[in-house]
Amino acid sequence: MERADAAQRATELRERIHRHDYLYYTEARPEVSDAEYDALVRELRALEAEFPDLVTEDSPTQRVAGQPVDTFRPVEHRAAMLSLDNATTAEDLREFEARMRRVLPAADFHYVAEPKIDGLGVALLYERGRFVRGATRGDGRVGEDITANLKTIRSIPMILRGPLAASPDLEVRGEVFMPRAEFAQLNRTLEEAGEPTFANPRNAAAGAVRQKDAAVTARRPLDIFLYHLSAAEGVAFTSYWETLEAMREAGFKTNPRSERCADLDAVIAGCQRLEAERDALGYDADGVVVKVDSLERQRRLGATSHHPRWAIAFKFAARQATTQVEGIEVGVGKTGALTPVAKLTPVELAGVVIRNVSLHNEDEIRKKDVRVGDTVLIERAGDVIPYVVQVVESRRPGGTVPFAFPARCPACGHPTFRPPGEAYWRCMNSACPAQLKERLGHFGSRRTMDIEHLGDAAIEQLVDRGLVRDFADLYGLTVEQVAALERFAEKSAQNLIASIAASRGRGLARLLNALGIRLVGERVAGLLAARFGSVEHLKKASPEELAEVHGIGDEIAQSVVTFFADATNVAVLDRLEEHGVLVTDPEALEGPKPLAGKTFVLTGTLSSLTRDAARDLIMRRGGRVVGSVSKKTDYVVAGESPGGKVDDARRLGVPVLDEAAFVALTGRA
Ligand code: IVH
Repeated sequence: MERADAAQRATELRERIHRHDYLYYTEARPEVSDAEYDALVRELRALEAEFPDLVTEDSPTQRVAGQPVDTFRPVEHRAAMLSLDNATTAEDLREFEARMRRVLPAADFHYVAEPKIDGLGVALLYERGRFVRGATRGDGRVGEDITANLKTIRSIPMILRGPLAASPDLEVRGEVFMPRAEFAQLNRTLEEAGEPTFANPRNAAAGAVRQKDAAVTARRPLDIFLYHLSAAEGVAFTSYWETLEAMREAGFKTNPRSERCADLDAVIAGCQRLEAERDALGYDADGVVVKVDSLERQRRLGATSHHPRWAIAFKFAARQATTQVEGIEVGVGKTGALTPVAKLTPVELAGVVIRNVSLHNEDEIRKKDVRVGDTVLIERAGDVIPYVVQVVESRRPGGTVPFAFPARCPACGHPTFRPPGEAYWRCMNSACPAQLKERLGHFGSRRTMDIEHLGDAAIEQLVDRGLVRDFADLYGLTVEQVAALERFAEKSAQNLIASIAASRGRGLARLLNALGIRLVGERVAGLLAARFGSVEHLKKASPEELAEVHGIGDEIAQSVVTFFADATNVAVLDRLEEHGVLVTDPEALEGPKPLAGKTFVLTGTLSSLTRDAARDLIMRRGGRVVGSVSKKTDYVVAGESPGGKVDDARRLGVPVLDEAAFVALTGRA
């Protein structure tokens, strides 16, 4: 191809890819399939490889580019990034308005209220519609240049559209965050890989944003909401609401929950509504930011050295409490990882009594220096499990000592070891009964083989008496053996044996999840079962064949291969099959896939099937189930007494199915 033609084609491809990025990441309404999108990117990469001088800074291929850096360059913000004054009650909000009245007595105030995102404030700079620099808030005056990291966030437009694109110099501010579902998934992956997890989405986002290597940031599921146009040379608006519309038109992602409020009563009602629905937002919000809508009034009100006078943050009730650490116990996980858990003086936190909190690993304990006897501040945010925010140093009693990891496994007495470069101390005894108990607990849990009556007490005794040494042994147990255990009568022994027998037909996906293969959780197990259809096929799969499956990377592929290369594992699977455990997924290969590519959210109670059965059905038919409703959701299935998810669906225009419509859609007879 001639250079001139290549240049023209490259420009065209860049524009199309940017547009598809926008539709997918900001609007959540893609117009092309993944395959079509990938083809465009491949073509652009090929062109740029042939004509390297055609590569532009804002090319979609440059989202992840450049070398890791040692330090971030400091950047001085054009105007200070101020913080916000706080309100915690409706009264505080009325005082906020009264203060403004004193400055502008004749004015009546209209507002915009929107979620206060619990993330990291950033400032993005655009010159003539092109993204040129992004910085952290820093101390408000000087931040750090994190352009390379921000470029990896696909909802940040590289090129603007509409009237804002013409501005020679434009700065927008917003909040980078990690959606809760993605955060949970990231932690599961980290945990399965034996790496330290993050305590909350904010910490995970903060770590990602300040990564020295942008390639790492690119693998972190970050998103952004923009909420402030701090400079826009040559463009003028009269209200914040209008500004938000222009920002949206330019391609920025703004919060769909922003609300225009005619007066303070509407603001207060809006704050209460958002607080009641905070868990359904899909991301952490710690309050509502209330802003005077008129930009002219904003200017006349001005700012103190700390915060603007025209805005205030209404803070949601804190979900924090303080309590004492009565002890630190060390548990042994499925893979032998030792996890320290703080035993707390029970304390109520947002309606739940908290007795234990994980201290994760040695580095976490050291960083926070949690000691037995300490008073700690704990927090429970959204559906995130509680964690220690910090030790209340002023209340530390005399004579405490830093926590030291045990040199021997608390369960089997084997020496413990912390492999270099890893976060966890481990019990190195593969026959450690505590590990086996954890693995059996996982094997029998509701989302895996769902063996009712196989509780901790039963597992404890079955392992301690040498009756169960691996998963397959479960299926050889007799009623007599179980009845001989403590606290088991004839009837309960029969129940356990019956539920073990009933678990044989759960199918391949659940079995694969149950086995506890490193990096293979529910999602990956589902993908493997759907693609390979049997243990037999999976056993023979090469790393390349495994990695070909959409959603399975090299590391997972390697882990699966390693698992099946171990003769002990294969022997257990053979014995499971001999006991009649279903090791295939007949439907996977032949069954109909009417739900392929569709995303579902389940809410309420269905009459003909349990939540788990509905979930399985969707996955078997090729669909996906997620926890909260977004524009990317295809259907919300609503049973009896559904929650706020139905309202979310209506607001976002997502179709809501009742049970009959859902069953019809799956094609289930
Ligand atoms: S407006 C001059 N809107 O909260 C106006 N801030 O405590 C600047 N934040 O530094 C702020 N969500 O990082 C605004 N919807 C929102 C926000 C928001 C989160 C952060 C922001 C700010 C901090 C103040």
